[in-house]
Amino acid sequence: MRPILTPVQAPFPATRHRRTKRSAALRNLVQENRLAVHDLIWPIFLREGTAIEEPIASMPGVSRLSIDRAVVAAERAVGLGIPALCLFPYTEPALKTLDCAEAWNPENLTNRAIRAIKAAFPELVVMTDVALDPYNALGQDGLVRDGVILNDETIEALVKMALIQSEAGADILGPSDMMDGRIGAIRSALESAGHKDVTIMSYAAKYASGFYGPFRDAVGASGLLKGDKKTFQMNPANGDEALRLVARDLSEGADMVMVKPGLPYLDICRRVKDAFGAPTFAYQVSGEYAMIKAAAQNGWVDGQTVMMESLMAFKRAGCDGVLTYFAPEAAALLRG
Ligand code: PBG
Repeated sequence: MRPILTPVQAPFPATRHRRTKRSAALRNLVQENRLAVHDLIWPIFLREGTAIEEPIASMPGVSRLSIDRAVVAAERAVGLGIPALCLFPYTEPALKTLDCAEAWNPENLTNRAIRAIKAAFPELVVMTDVALDPYNALGQDGLVRDGVILNDETIEALVKMALIQSEAGADILGPSDMMDGRIGAIRSALESAGHKDVTIMSYAAKYASGFYGPFRDAVGASGLLKGDKKTFQMNPANGDEALRLVARDLSEGADMVMVKPGLPYLDICRRVKDAFGAPTFAYQVSGEYAMIKAAAQNGWVDGQTVMMESLMAFKRAGCDGVLTYFAPEAAALLRG
């Protein structure tokens, strides 16, 4: 950086950064990034039943909602100005099979919830997760044969799932499975079926992370999962590979891309945004949420301050938006 004043002319100190920090108004004038309610996507968990809000122990403040309560959450989102919900089902153990057929049942929990929410609030964007893990008896994101996750067979299942979700009214499909070629396969199936306007947010740079623990409790996959997800999710040591995956998914027809988890991968967010300029989102995952909540509950950090600081970090890293369980709490604060 070139100094504005030469050392000879400069009074001491050459620059007083404190000049622009003197008042809230001045700090506001020079603020580089803004977090707004319209940056937030709110992930919610679904379960069967009526009038049920079942707290998730490892995610304080988050509950599994029956569809009627999910519609209430949708109303809350609309009231707060949150533009989008993302739906994740807790599947009854009896519905989990090796072929994952419940995933493309038009009457499954997710598809009924999409219809109920879109009927009540047509303007609210509904995003889904396209992956087999909630429906898989083995807790894996793909079909498994002899302990191996099958790539191409899994894609056929994902395509069926994506089409059914689109028919139910989903606005954004979020393939989170990390199989190779699924974006292209889903995109061409959508085109052929006349779902030309359904958008895809690819979980493009999704790492094999320990931060998903509470989520797996929430969808009931924790006890089931055999092994890990390292044969398809990314190695946390890799950065360049994320750029190759994002390039691939964009070329196959993704409209938006996601980096996941969020805070430990802010460098990836920045690199993706700089390299492609595409709509870039981060997923502040369950474990990140749980850490902040736990520390706040213990009085070790100020919960609101840390929540807002963590969300602003995504904007600073170049993200257009963020999926976060904090969405309603943050939106309420942002609206004052
Ligand atoms: C599964 C999926 C996961 C999450 C979103 N979709 C878990 C996983 O990959 O094991 C995690 C989200 C979170 O932790 O909040 N396809």
